[in-house]
Amino acid sequence: MCFAGKGGVGKTTSLVLFLKYAISKHPNLKKLVIDADPDANIADLVGKNIEFHDTIGGKVTEIGRKIARKEIPSHLSERSLIEEEVLRDIFNMGDFDLLVQGRSEGEGCYCSINSILKNLLRVLSETYDLIVIDSPAGLEFFARKTSTNVDDLVIVSDMSKMGFHTVQRIIEIKNEVSLDFKKIWILGNRFNEKSKELFVNRIKEILENNAELLGFFSYNDEIQKFNLSNKSLIDLPDTNLVYKESIEIYSKII
Ligand SMILES: Nc1ncnc2c1ncn2[C@@H]1O[C@H](COP(=O)(O)OP(=O)(O)OP(=O)(O)O)[C@@H](O)[C@H]1O
Ligand SMILES: [Mg+2]
Repeated sequence: MCFAGKGGVGKTTSLVLFLKYAISKHPNLKKLVIDADPDANIADLVGKNIEFHDTIGGKVTEIGRKIARKEIPSHLSERSLIEEEVLRDIFNMGDFDLLVQGRSEGEGCYCSINSILKNLLRVLSETYDLIVIDSPAGLEFFARKTSTNVDDLVIVSDMSKMGFHTVQRIIEIKNEVSLDFKKIWILGNRFNEKSKELFVNRIKEILENNAELLGFFSYNDEIQKFNLSNKSLIDLPDTNLVYKESIEIYSKII
């Protein structure tokens, strides 16, 4: 399952709410969270400090340096060394495991990190019952087809024109590169009653052909407070209104 959408619409928040829901209602499923955003921020939201060398980007950089210094026998494949290290160092967070993509040092391109992640997803989906990916804002992640093998795509949008423009673009790209999701969901975040209808009208065509409406989260002060005070959203009280909304919403998925 993968969360996507325009920058700042609430992808990471919605993902952590899903994680909280899944931990509480499906405790026996083995869960992995992948932060595929180069500006990693899941770690912030679940209260974990991730060092550079523990990210996929860090492993790519480190092994690249070792190879340059000829510290690695040339018959060993760079890719399998990186994959081995990444798999070995997945964090156990108790109720779930965590893998952070990060960025590689020095260069601006994430292609190699992306392709490692894409490959690992195949291996990881055999080990875990539930994999949840926080994708970077923007469209490249999809254009590169990193999300091959993902069953559910949740596209998050706020009430802005830009929010649902990104919803449209993600669906277009998905069709262009023929990415196959079993199901595409659209999730509205920070909505009030009046805007829901307007939004549904705007995305009517998408809902008719491509996707299903998952539901709406309200704006919630407590979520914002948790964010500002660096508290883990997993610890949000079960009485929180948006968490309650999320139980109803996410039970459509699992
Ligand atoms: N329902 C909500 N009510 C109140 N605040 C919210 C809600 N959802 C998200 N926020 C706040 O909005 C901000 C952006 O949310 P979040 O980080 O989840 O977005 P994002 O899409 O992951 O952003 P990015 O593209 O930077 O990764 C955060 O400060 C978060 O606390
Ligand atoms: Mg985010």
